[in-house]
Amino acid sequence: MNQPISSQLLARPVAFAPYQDNHGLRLDSAAEARAHAAGARVGISQAHESAQLHVTGSATYTDDIPELAGTLHCALGLAPVAAGRLLSIDLALLAAQPGVVRVFTAADIPGSNDWGSIVHDDPILCDGDIRYLGQPVFAVVAESREQARRAAALAKKLIQAEAATPVLTPQDAHAKSQYVVPPMHLVRSSSGLDEAGIQARIQAAPHRLQGQLDVGGQEQFYLEGQISYAIPKEAGGMHVHCSTQHPSEMQHLVAHALGVAAHAVLVECRRMGGGFGGKESQSALFACMASVAAQQLQRPVKLRLDRDDDFMITGRRHCFWYEYDVGYDDAGRILGAAVTMVSRAGHSADLSAPVMTRALCHFDNAYWLPEVAMHGFCGKTNTQSNTAFRGFGGPQGAIAIEYILDSIARQLQQDPLAVRRANFYGTATHNITPYLQPVRDNVIHELVDQLEERSSYQARRAAIAAFNATSPVLKRGLALTPVKFGISFNVKHFNQAGALVHVYTDGSILVNHGGTEMGQGLNTKVAQVVAHELGVDFARVRATATDTSKVANTSATAASTGTDLNGKAAQDAARQIRERLAACAAARHGGAAEDVRFANGQVTVAGKTISFETLVGEAYLDRVQLWSDGFYATPGLSWDREKMQGNPFYYFAYGAAVSEVVVDTLTGEWKLLRADVLHDVGRSLNPAVDIGQVEGAFIQGMGWLTTEELVWHPQTGLLMTHAPSTYKIPTANDCPPEFHVQLFEGANAMDSIHRSKAVGEPPLLLPFSVFFAIRDAVAAAGGHQALPPLQAPATSEAILRAIGAVQAG
Ligand code: MTE
Ligand code: HPA
Ligand code: MOS
Repeated sequence: MNQPISSQLLARPVAFAPYQDNHGLRLDSAAEARAHAAGARVGISQAHESAQLHVTGSATYTDDIPELAGTLHCALGLAPVAAGRLLSIDLALLAAQPGVVRVFTAADIPGSNDWGSIVHDDPILCDGDIRYLGQPVFAVVAESREQARRAAALAKKLIQAEAATPVLTPQDAHAKSQYVVPPMHLVRSSSGLDEAGIQARIQAAPHRLQGQLDVGGQEQFYLEGQISYAIPKEAGGMHVHCSTQHPSEMQHLVAHALGVAAHAVLVECRRMGGGFGGKESQSALFACMASVAAQQLQRPVKLRLDRDDDFMITGRRHCFWYEYDVGYDDAGRILGAAVTMVSRAGHSADLSAPVMTRALCHFDNAYWLPEVAMHGFCGKTNTQSNTAFRGFGGPQGAIAIEYILDSIARQLQQDPLAVRRANFYGTATHNITPYLQPVRDNVIHELVDQLEERSSYQARRAAIAAFNATSPVLKRGLALTPVKFGISFNVKHFNQAGALVHVYTDGSILVNHGGTEMGQGLNTKVAQVVAHELGVDFARVRATATDTSKVANTSATAASTGTDLNGKAAQDAARQIRERLAACAAARHGGAAEDVRFANGQVTVAGKTISFETLVGEAYLDRVQLWSDGFYATPGLSWDREKMQGNPFYYFAYGAAVSEVVVDTLTGEWKLLRADVLHDVGRSLNPAVDIGQVEGAFIQGMGWLTTEELVWHPQTGLLMTHAPSTYKIPTANDCPPEFHVQLFEGANAMDSIHRSKAVGEPPLLLPFSVFFAIRDAVAAAGGHQALPPLQAPATSEAILRAIGAVQAG
């Protein structure tokens, strides 16, 4: 049917039924029920610990906390130009606005005017130098949120600035050698060549490919925006409720801004309505500002952004620009690759350096590169400071090699899957990454074999060729792309965690750990680990809000390590309690402590069975400590930042996806018809939660590569796409009608928590397959003769431009 896609869509009832379609394929509920009966509490599709609260609207987010009497509201006045000098602010007029209690500028911050996470280059309020359009210049505190926002909206009129010409693109920053951190170089040769030698190897190869690629950024679009609620406490203390992935860092930065010690500041987060990396560092500006106002006024102060301000103030995924030069052989094997990556870092360093490090360490993706020269530049621009977003540079690094391999296959007129396979890391040889960590747990060969089979890749490849041969307007495309993703923070000391487990005398259990809940199911998994360790039902364990006064010096919940780190720490705490309980049971009832068994809420000791709570009561009377702390530090990690080598990752997570699309070559519209995913989470702690993470990451990554486009005005530097009206994230209707997500069978080779693997970020790379399926369809529009110059995001406009190019060329 060669009707336009839009009319096909109208004709087709919207099908959102990925669950019914293939329920049996995805979860083995009978096996899980048997394991549960035998006492297992991990490996079970336990519902999210807050599922009922979420769907009934009774889950408490920061803005839902009942406000204390006397609470004031803060709003931020934003810079009206992207670069230049702040000349003056009409503070008198601001102070005279209805309801306004106080206006703050940089001079009113008692401690340091800085919220920078690594490099201290992020002013809370503008210190004279205007860095981007939207930068907070003043804060206004009023009796109501409405009054504060009305006053702040006068910023455009009341701020006098001397405007300069902004630097907006990574290319422009690169041309001016303007970077937020020094350039990074990762040059590695398996045959001892220097960079000139690698370049010569590329030139001497049977085939050569040179090109450039643009990949756009992405807004986190957490449903709950940035928010902090600061409550002054006695003797200079501050209690901050903050939607943040990093309570400890918020604690430290608030303490610096207030000029007090860390012990005076308590930061608490029960849950976030999504973080996606956007609350790893960038929650700090709001935590600091609300706290400064609360301290100065000695009244509670809430600062909640509206969506447009959130877009205008905070950064997001870095867009990247690449220039590449590769040499390859007749089989499409890469013999040498040189790549320059330039990111749009924005006005400050934020996390741009570790993001670029991860990008450079993921350019290899699943492929062995014998000779590689990589150069990473974090371009300093007059835009929001870009930051963490699910994948943290990994997706930006890996998409470049995928683009290169896709192009090589097209130049050789081979199936891209064959070329990808020819480059896969080996298992025993050809398995050293550019940063010299060996890949020891490679499952990509069997995983891709299984997926190729289950998705009927070859048969569909033939069917699509047949369809395209007779379909002049609609073209179909297909692609299979693999993922290999390194798990651990690429900063060694972040890989540690702590937990506290309390067993109360009624046998109920409370667990607190350093991780934060953002919907990903961390609390559910940690509570499962504790229930499993103590042999009790899940319902007996309650997870509490993350709180810097309970577990100190925590890392961000990031790098997908939440469960790996906090799960191990909580297991350590629970195990200590179990061992004390076992010793108590043996002392009272006989037998050896090692033989005491805990399962299904029962304790078996010397042939007797007693309930868990009975033993807990006995242990209390025997003065046994019924609570414990726990700690974990990931073993075996190393990283030399200068040489860019070491063992930055504890293990790798793998996955692959096959996507099929149809593209309307007259309008550039497209539709994802079917996606098949096989993803490696090791031995899943919770298959339902893991599948949810894979599905969510897939659709989120698809949005990044297709519909989500950020546009800054090329002269003024105004971010013009700052609301859902102009920035298009995917919805339920963008899920493919056929969406088969399966978990790969196999345990983690490393001793992770119950041999599971991290799941949060790696599946964000799976929808590369959607982008390359679109590129495949575009290539078909040109009879597979020309390389489609498709850039990301592949918006309908970008698709049409690429079709125009392949049909012209
Ligand atoms: N899932 C939901 N529902 N909401 C989120 O904000 N963030 C992602 C991922 N999955 C996120 C999510 C990101 S960026 C990371 S690093 C991990 O969750 C963090 O949690 P984990 O380490 O516990 O997996
Ligand atoms: N991921 C997320 N946050 C980080 C990382 C990382 O790899 N390294 C430092 N901060
Ligand atoms: Mo995730 S980007 O590491 O918060």
